[in-house]
Amino acid sequence: MRSIYFPSDKEQRTRELLRTLCEGTPIPKEDRLDHLEVYMRPQRVSEILSLDALYRRILGVHGVVMEFGVRWGRHLSIFIGLRTRYEPHNLYRKVIGFDTFEGFTTPTDKDGKSDRVHGHAMSVSTDYKAHLEEVLTLHEQETPGAHIRRFSLEKGDAPEALTRYLADHPETIVAMAYFDMDIYQPTKECLELLMPHMTKGAVIAFDQISHPDFPGETMALKESALFGSLPLERSQHAPYPTFVTL
Ligand SMILES: C[S@@+](CC[C@H](N)C(=O)[O-])C[C@H]1O[C@@H](n2cnc3c(N)ncnc32)[C@H](O)[C@@H]1O
Repeated sequence: MRSIYFPSDKEQRTRELLRTLCEGTPIPKEDRLDHLEVYMRPQRVSEILSLDALYRRILGVHGVVMEFGVRWGRHLSIFIGLRTRYEPHNLYRKVIGFDTFEGFTTPTDKDGKSDRVHGHAMSVSTDYKAHLEEVLTLHEQETPGAHIRRFSLEKGDAPEALTRYLADHPETIVAMAYFDMDIYQPTKECLELLMPHMTKGAVIAFDQISHPDFPGETMALKESALFGSLPLERSQHAPYPTFVTL
């Protein structure tokens, strides 16, 4: 089933033009990194504001930030930036990303019929994990105590990778879990695995709640004890994320 949640023809043309301008940028190499915002679309600004609002909620809450569904690492990079901005000395605020780095695992019947949902959807290029590790390591160099690594990328089907991570790190308490895998099975299983490790005041956020192309994420939430027992809040800056505070 073709998704209706795509940009209009006009929006696509605008973005194509912006992409072309970005690729042929006259900004000299030495200035580029500090002027990436020139090409940032307003929607991306909204996303940063949304993640900022979420992050500020956990400033007084102990524990790590976990993201399920990393892809190119846009959110992880922002989370590390927010940590540097708000709590550079918080040595225990690790940022941990889970992904196959090979796209979606096999969807189930609960994932609907959108042509956007299929095995290996949203995969990344070969060896991208190593590239992202290099980038995030450099971001961490801007933080005091940079010799203490405070992020990790966990590769594999998320429920298996999370089980392994929790067994290897029994000290783990989770202050924020951000779900962005889009599909039912890993979202449901990771939610269940996480609950014993989440503390009061922690935030659990979901990127695709009520999105008709990705019903599986909403179903996983609805089947959990969270649904109906806690207010389901939403970002004031963008259609997503949706979140609960424990
Ligand atoms: C929408 S993308 C994530 C976008 C990302 N949060 C960002 O910052 O742009 C969805 C990601 O979920 C991952 N994914 C889907 N099923 C998964 C599973 N069973 N285990 C781990 N990752 C999975 C995909 O590989 C893909 O990278």
